[in-house]
Amino acid sequence: MKQTFITFEGPEGSGKTSVIKSVAAMLKEAGHDVLTTREPGGVAIAEQIRHVMLDVDNEAMDAKTEALLFAASRRQHVVEVILPALKQGKIVICDRYVDSSLAYQGVGRGLGIDTVFSLNQFAIGDCMQNLTLFIDVPPTTGLNRVQTNGRHMDRLDLESLSFHERVYKGYRTLIERYQERIKVIDGTQSIDEVVEKALSHIRSIVG
Ligand code: TYD
Repeated sequence: MKQTFITFEGPEGSGKTSVIKSVAAMLKEAGHDVLTTREPGGVAIAEQIRHVMLDVDNEAMDAKTEALLFAASRRQHVVEVILPALKQGKIVICDRYVDSSLAYQGVGRGLGIDTVFSLNQFAIGDCMQNLTLFIDVPPTTGLNRVQTNGRHMDRLDLESLSFHERVYKGYRTLIERYQERIKVIDGTQSIDEVVEKALSHIRSIVG
């Protein structure tokens, strides 16, 4: 059966959460059955893992521990939320997925894209997305947006600018590597323009 699993990626403050909201509303209006989710997806076990991961007091967390926890949380989300929705034929839209681990833990933390990918393959099996939309904003622009909108800063938001620059470089490597799957949208445009571009990519796979 054909599945439609779409993920959104981007640096901090790329605006993907607002874009996903509008995109999902428009797809629903057009008659599609859509599930939007984000890790940890409201799944109790994954929420508990997330709490440990993002707690600003956990300064001692090792990079491999961090990668394993993201993968563990993802596994629970896949099993409880994503796979059941795909089985029901829904379009699933997820705010961040495996590519976040490849960029943040693989490149940002320096564990290596291939190492983090194999770890994630153990977690997700063949539950890979068909399309990834990368909302592109330079890391400094994104971080400024996060700081000025007064959002709570988690352990990763508080990382240095050089960490976020490495993450961004990681995303650029993934875009090169997975050109078929990852489409880039300029996130410095107006939200309406970003939403329109995202919809046109999605329409090309849902018909
Ligand atoms: P999230 O709360 O989704 O933040 P945002 O609003 O920026 O999307 O994600 C929390 C942080 O966790 C964010 O800094 C990105 C990071 N992260 C990873 O490092 N690895 C991962 O696999 C995921 C999903 C997120």
